[in-house]
Amino acid sequence: MKRRVLVVDDDAAIVEVLEMRLLTMGFDVTATSDPQVAMAAVEGGRFDLALFDLRMEPTDGITLMESAHAHQPRLPVLIMTAHGTIETAVNAVQRGAFDYLTKPFLRDELRAKIARALASRRWARDRERLLAVGQTLASSGIMARVLDAVAQGAVETTEAERCVVFQQEHGRLVPMASAGSTPPSWPALEAAATAAMAKGLPVTFPGTEGAAIVAAPLVVQRGPMGAVVIETAPGIEPTEDDLDLLALFTSQAAVAVRNTHELERLRSGALAALGRMATEVAHELKNPLAGLRLYARHLEARLTKGGDADGAGLAQKITSTVDHLASVVQEITAFGRPPELHRVPTALHALLDECLAFAQAKCEAAGVEVIRAYDPACPDALLDARELRKALLNLVLNGMEALGAGGRLTVGTSYRAETRIVTIVVEDTGTGMSDETLSRMFDLFFTTKPQGTGLGMALARSVIDLHGGELTVHSAVGKGTRITIRLPLEPVPGGARA
Ligand SMILES: Nc1ncnc2c1ncn2[C@@H]1O[C@H](COP(=O)(O)OP(=O)(O)OP(=O)(O)O)[C@@H](O)[C@H]1O
Ligand SMILES: [Mg+2]
Repeated sequence: MKRRVLVVDDDAAIVEVLEMRLLTMGFDVTATSDPQVAMAAVEGGRFDLALFDLRMEPTDGITLMESAHAHQPRLPVLIMTAHGTIETAVNAVQRGAFDYLTKPFLRDELRAKIARALASRRWARDRERLLAVGQTLASSGIMARVLDAVAQGAVETTEAERCVVFQQEHGRLVPMASAGSTPPSWPALEAAATAAMAKGLPVTFPGTEGAAIVAAPLVVQRGPMGAVVIETAPGIEPTEDDLDLLALFTSQAAVAVRNTHELERLRSGALAALGRMATEVAHELKNPLAGLRLYARHLEARLTKGGDADGAGLAQKITSTVDHLASVVQEITAFGRPPELHRVPTALHALLDECLAFAQAKCEAAGVEVIRAYDPACPDALLDARELRKALLNLVLNGMEALGAGGRLTVGTSYRAETRIVTIVVEDTGTGMSDETLSRMFDLFFTTKPQGTGLGMALARSVIDLHGGELTVHSAVGKGTRITIRLPLEPVPGGARA
């Protein structure tokens, strides 16, 4: 596709001459004497280069450039002037022009400056692309963050209106991250993603109002795992350059996604080993602790008998400390035990209410607004109510604890009869989590709380996993945290992960 150049000069003769020259250089030229016509063209589509005359009435070239940059910030502009002084040149460049041209034009100067402006634009874009990809690769190793960076990077490098990253999950495409403005039509983007994955190559489709949708598959070893889909602004057709860039970018993104998968796998392997060790240690501690408790009770009884109230009080403290230790140990052994689910018909909303009531009683929740958004269509389910209560309670408690002085805690459900999957969301407007916390929250004993044991999240995930479900976390520091659980209502054959 030809590169598009916009020429504006109030001298019709110059417009004509430039148009001819640029046409012979192989450009697609829009040339006009009217700044309003020029702005309409900028608003309607993207240009690769603009040449504006400096002295024009009523809008001078620099003002026109600034209006154009409001629409297309990186449009390279050459300012033309018959009275080229160093001052005007410096002023033009300071205010965002790429360079300036003196009239009358020397053929070679025109050619050279145009070539340089176009090349540097490419270069600037490439540099930004590399930066974005670098950041993606070096980012924290959390899949949600990597996909966000991919979406953001794709929008910035291709100057698209929006980007959505889809991932294949349980046989359907799920939007995992997006950047830019909200899509007018999700099905159109999803259809493009499906086509790109089937073809294994970038594909282009017409979008809404003359926009274009381009999808490139995210190919990881075993085949496409999803697609990066961009949509351009209305009236803008992607160039060959854009397609190349998107293909290159997606292949880099695929590397980042693969590395992150690998990292997550390693992490969970190490975690499992650590969990086994913790369980063994806990097991070894159980009997001595029981002994210790017994001795402390004896001591307490003796001291009470002997009338030593202070001593008895101390012995009592030993007992209760030992009790606390024993309960931690019990939690660890329970965690390490290959768990078996005892599924019983369970009313999920009643279970959630129970957790909320308990959490509200436990936490000082004066300034906390609790919102329940239950889907009445959600039926009773075959679940292990006891295990699930522990998991959900921890999530609700974490939310409350993150809220501290005040904020909103939302607990919601939504049910899809076709899939028999209920989605539970626990969302708070609290402190949110840093990247470090996000990457470690499922680690056993990882806690940022003075009184925390750091078992809650690990337990919650393992319970949901055992039910064949899925727990995902979105969090932003200072904004809050959203935990999403997808839970099948009954055992999925082969669905539970051990
Ligand atoms: N909703 C949340 N908002 C902010 N941080 C959270 C949230 N949920 C979990 N975290 C972070 O993850 C860490 C681990 O959570 P986890 O539930 O595993 O342990 P804990 O709450 O610290 O202790 P406990 O074992 O008593 O639950 C927390 O210490 C906290 O830093
Ligand atoms: Mg917790």
